[in-house]
Amino acid sequence: MSSLYHEVYARWRAAPERFWAEAAEAVHWYRRWEAVLDASRAPFYRWFPGGQVNSCYNALDRHVENGRAGQPALIYDSPVTGTVRSYSYRELRDEVARFAGVLAGRGVERGDRVIIYMPMVPEAVIAMLACARIGAIHSVVFGGFASPELASRITDARPKAILTASCGIEIDRVVPYKPLLDAAIELAHAKPDCCIVLQRPQARATLVPGRDHDWAELAAGAQPVDCVPVLATDPLYILYTSGTTGHPKGIVRDNGGHLVALTWSMRNVYGVDPGEVYWAASDLGWAVGHSYIVYGPLFHGNTTILYEGKPVGTPDAGAFWRVIAQHGVRAFFTAPTAFRAIRREDPEGEHIRRYDLSRLRTLFLAGERCDPPTLVWAQQQLGIPVVDHWWQTETGWAVGCDCVGLGLLPVKPGSCTLPVPGYDVRILDDAGREAGAGDTGNVVIRLPLPPGCSPTLWNNDRGYEQTYLTAYPGYYLTADAGYKDEDGYLWIMSRTDDVINVAGHRLSTGAMEEVLAGHPDVAECAVVGVHDALKGEVPLGLVVLKAGRSRDPAELAAELVELVRKRIGPVASFKTATTVKRLPKTRSGKIVRGTIRKIADGAAYTVPPTIDDPATLEEVAAALAAIGYPGRVTSPSPAGSGPH
Ligand code: COA
Ligand code: AMP
Repeated sequence: MSSLYHEVYARWRAAPERFWAEAAEAVHWYRRWEAVLDASRAPFYRWFPGGQVNSCYNALDRHVENGRAGQPALIYDSPVTGTVRSYSYRELRDEVARFAGVLAGRGVERGDRVIIYMPMVPEAVIAMLACARIGAIHSVVFGGFASPELASRITDARPKAILTASCGIEIDRVVPYKPLLDAAIELAHAKPDCCIVLQRPQARATLVPGRDHDWAELAAGAQPVDCVPVLATDPLYILYTSGTTGHPKGIVRDNGGHLVALTWSMRNVYGVDPGEVYWAASDLGWAVGHSYIVYGPLFHGNTTILYEGKPVGTPDAGAFWRVIAQHGVRAFFTAPTAFRAIRREDPEGEHIRRYDLSRLRTLFLAGERCDPPTLVWAQQQLGIPVVDHWWQTETGWAVGCDCVGLGLLPVKPGSCTLPVPGYDVRILDDAGREAGAGDTGNVVIRLPLPPGCSPTLWNNDRGYEQTYLTAYPGYYLTADAGYKDEDGYLWIMSRTDDVINVAGHRLSTGAMEEVLAGHPDVAECAVVGVHDALKGEVPLGLVVLKAGRSRDPAELAAELVELVRKRIGPVASFKTATTVKRLPKTRSGKIVRGTIRKIADGAAYTVPPTIDDPATLEEVAAALAAIGYPGRVTSPSPAGSGPH
C-alpha cells in the first residue's frame, strides 16, 4: 500500500482544529466542547475546553456496553510469580468500579491526588483507572526510585491517599516496598490521610495502625461507583520526570486531549484494530506504560498485556517471544536496550525460532535512539517492519514516527522518520534561525502542541514556561538535538540538558551531582553519561576531595554508589565513581562535561579553547584509565584550536 502519510499530514496542516475535531468524534463525550482549541492564554493552549468526558468510561464501560464485555481487556503475565491471569472488559470494569468505591469511601474526590507506588500487578492498573473513574488525579511513581525521590513527589503532589504493594520482584529478588514508602512519608512535607497496601505472598508488609489499610479487606467491603464526568481540561494524571535540575517536574496530562490523541494514535501510528492484542513491554511508572499499557489500548478496545518480568532472565532471552506467541500479540513496543540485552544472550536468534510469531506484524522501539545495528538485527531476526519512534514524557505520544496505519515509508535506520500529523517539528540554531538539511540544531515544535501533550507542570505554570517556551518564543523546546535530512527525516541524536537515558530510563545527572556533593568528603563533582553497550548510557561520577581529606578511592567510590542508590534508587545504575585532583573547567568556571564524556568514551575530542588548564584533561584521562576506561587522550588538538 502506498503511504497516505503526506496526504494526512497536509490535511492536518491545512486545518488543525478541524482535524482534531474529527478525531474527537471517535470518543465518548458527556458534553461536547465549546471550542476545539483555546488559545486565549497563549503560549498556554487548552484542547476541547468546556467538553466533559471520563477516561475510565472510554477505557472500559463504553466497550462493555458495545459488545466487548467478554473480550480480554488485560492479560497479566508474570513469569516472576508464575502467573497468567486474564480480565475481560466486564471483569476489569467491575474491579475498577469497586476499587473506585474503596477510594471514595476513604474520602478521595474529584481533583484529589493519589500516589501509586506499585510493581507491575493488575491492581496498579485498576488503581489508575479507579482514580480516572472518580476524577481523582493519579501519580504513579516508578518502583525503582528510592524514598527521597518518592518523598519529593509526595511533597509536590500532596496526595490524599497512597497506594502501594508489600513488594516488587526483580527476577528473583524480592524488593520490599513498604519500608521505602514509610521512610518517604517520614521525609515528605505533606502527609497522606491513608495508605492502602496490597499484600503479596512473597513478603507481607507491616501496617501502621490508623493510617494503613489492607487492600483486599477494603475491596471486599466496597460498593462499586459510577464514572464521574470531568472537564476535558481537568488533569487525569501527574507523572514526574527528570530534567534540567535535580528536582523532578510534574508533567500534567489532561483528560480530553489525551483521550482523543491516544485513540487516534492506536490505528494511525500503531496500525492496530480494536479487538487485537497490543503489548508495550514497559513499566507503568513511565509515560510509555501510562499511554500504551493502560490508556491507548483500552480506549481503542484492544487487549493489553501487563508483563511483570524482564527481556532476559525470566527465564531466558526467549521471554518476549513466549509472551507474543502465547497471547497472539499483533503490535509490540519496547525499548532498544531490551533488544540489546536479548541480542547479547541470543545473537543467532535461536529463541526466536522456538516460537510461532506469525501473528506479530510490527515492532516499535522508543525511549532512546535505536542504534542502527540493533534495528537491523531486529529486522533480520523477526522479518517484520521495525519502527523507531521518538517521543517524550511531556508529549505522551509519538512526535516522530513512521505511521504504520497510514502506510509505511522507506526506513532509514537511525532516524525516527517524519513528524506525526499534529507536530510541526523544526530545527533551530542557537540564534533561532532554521537550520539547513543535515545541520544539527535544537529540535523544537511549533506551538500549539497537539492534544495529549502536557499543557503545564503541576502547580508550576512558570516552570513550564521557563523550561519549554522561553528559549524560542512560539516553539516548544524538546531539549533534544538533531537534524532533518534532505528528505525531511528526523534524526534525534542527543539531549541538550542534563538528562541521560539509562536502559530506556530517563535520569538527571544534575540530581546525581546533588547527591555526590552531599558526601562529607566531596568538595565538588561532575556526573556525565558515558556510552554503554547494553544500557546505551550509564552515569560516571568524578569527585574532588575537600582540602586536607585523604580517602581510598575505591572505598569512597563504594560509598558514593551506595549513596546514589539510597537517595535516587537502583534505577540510576550509578556504579562507577573516581577521584580526580581537579575538574576540567573553562576560564569562567564551567565544567566541560562534554569533553569528559568523550575522554571516558575514548572518542576523539578537541581541547576546548576556553579551557582554564588543559592538564586537567590529562588528569581525568589518567584517573579513568586507572579504573579501566580507555583513558587516553585521542588526537587532542592544541589549546585554542577548534570548537568544543
Ligand atoms: N523496582 C525495584 N528495582 C528496580 C525496578 C523496580 N521496578 N526496576 C529496576 N530496578 C533495579 C534493577 O533490579 C537493577 O538493580 P541492581 O542494580 O541491583 O541490579 C537496577 O534497578 C537497574 O535496573 P535496569 O537499568 O533496568 O537494569 P537491569 O540490569 O535490571 O535490566 C534491561 C536491564 C535492559 C533488561 C532493562 O533495563 C529493561 O528491560 N529495560 C527496558 C526499559 C523500558 O522498558 N523502558 C521504558 C521505555 S519503552
Ligand atoms: P522519556 O521522557 O523518558 O520518554 O525520554 C524522552 C527522551 O528520550 C527524548 O527527549 C529523547 O532524548 C529520548 N528518546 C526517546 N525516544 C527516542 C528515539 N526514538 N530516538 C531518539 N531519542 C529518543
